Amino acid sequence: MAEEKRFAKATWQIMEQLLDVENLEDALSGSLEIIVNTLNSEAGAIWFLDEKTDRLSPLFHIGPADISNITVENGLGLEGIVTKTGKSVIVEDAANDPRFDGTVFDDNGLTTKTMICVPLNNLHNVIGCVQIVNKKDGTLYDKDELSLCEHMASLAAITIDEKGLIVDFKEKKEVLAELTDVIKEFPSGDGVSRVLKGINLEIYKNEFVVVLGESGCGKSTMMNIVGGMDFLTDGKLFIEGRDFSHPSDKELTEYRRKYVGFIFQSYNLMPNLTAIENVRFIAELVSDPMKPEDAIAKVGLKDKANNYPSQMSGGQQQRVSIARAIVKNPKLILADEPTAALDYATSIEVLKVIEDIVKNNGTTVMMVTHNPEIARMADRVVKVRNGKIASIKKNMHPVHAEELVW
Ligand SMILES: Nc1ncnc2c1ncn2[C@@H]1O[C@H](COP(=O)(O)OP(=O)(O)O)[C@@H](O)[C@H]1O
Ligand SMILES: [Mg+2]
Repeated sequence: MAEEKRFAKATWQIMEQLLDVENLEDALSGSLEIIVNTLNSEAGAIWFLDEKTDRLSPLFHIGPADISNITVENGLGLEGIVTKTGKSVIVEDAANDPRFDGTVFDDNGLTTKTMICVPLNNLHNVIGCVQIVNKKDGTLYDKDELSLCEHMASLAAITIDEKGLIVDFKEKKEVLAELTDVIKEFPSGDGVSRVLKGINLEIYKNEFVVVLGESGCGKSTMMNIVGGMDFLTDGKLFIEGRDFSHPSDKELTEYRRKYVGFIFQSYNLMPNLTAIENVRFIAELVSDPMKPEDAIAKVGLKDKANNYPSQMSGGQQQRVSIARAIVKNPKLILADEPTAALDYATSIEVLKVIEDIVKNNGTTVMMVTHNPEIARMADRVVKVRNGKIASIKKNMHPVHAEELVW
């Protein structure tokens, strides 16, 4: 009875999500979240079929493994079989199931044991599937749970049919940085406190990835590890395929100096240097910088170049700090709550500059924020919860900074 109520409530919540939406992508990822929670499961994904390549790609997934870059051939693996045949499947023991080829949810951070996979079946054809993985209590999925998933999938498929979802199958991305099973502990009292509890995440070249999560969940710690400003306790960090888990001092200095640009909530400008001097000071440390004048122009501060920080607004100072980050021509920019201290209008100014850098300089930007509205700009949105990756969503249609409202 309790279960029936729970399922009825979930169905109701899913209908609410899907019926009353401006943003279908959010409704789909929200529905997946409801299903994964209601079925007390470790992971879940919504896959879409790319008719051009006849392969499936996950647009949203929940759980500790990063499967963003994985594609599955239609007809192969559970996802492929379900999409090809349009028939649901329950897997009781993935390890011994010949249909499960082990390519998905079976490397980083998660081993598939049990699974439900149901087709996204609209009036005309099968457009993909919904997959739910591993009951947290180790029990098997039952028929009622399968029905709930089928219900959700048919609602989703109808909504997609009605409202239209243009899925942009992005090409396979090159990996810039990769975290595998990263654990971070800090000393605490007599023992240690585990702040990152096994992070698996890939960061791709020239993508804008936004990291969301409540205060204290480990966002900054994760970012600092990627930026070589802190060290992992266990697990691995790869930079362009090279193991960078335990770099030497020399490697680390080079990396921080040339490879990464940092932007923080506080601007950390030198008060006794003008805007352009703050930027030039950093340019002089690297071998192949942008011209400081160009960096200042890029952030729209040509006419403020000779102002001291005290003569500039918060937004202008933050733009100087962005100029200081980009003048190095870094491959990666890490921005930790860059707009947290700014009002709305000024935040948008700063976000426009960041958008421009990703689009026109080919830079990768990883930005931490607690403002979910900002996530609409991102190529991918990574949610962190309690030291783990909770979900990853690809935005099919990222919006421009000036379209954001809060
Ligand atoms: N240097 C440190 N020493 C001890 N604990 C730390 C240190 N840095 C962060 N923490 C703890 O780790 C947790 C996550 O911190 P942080 O990564 O800054 O979270 P977020 O950026 O998501 O708000 C917090 O509980 C914080 O107190
Ligand atoms: Mg933080």
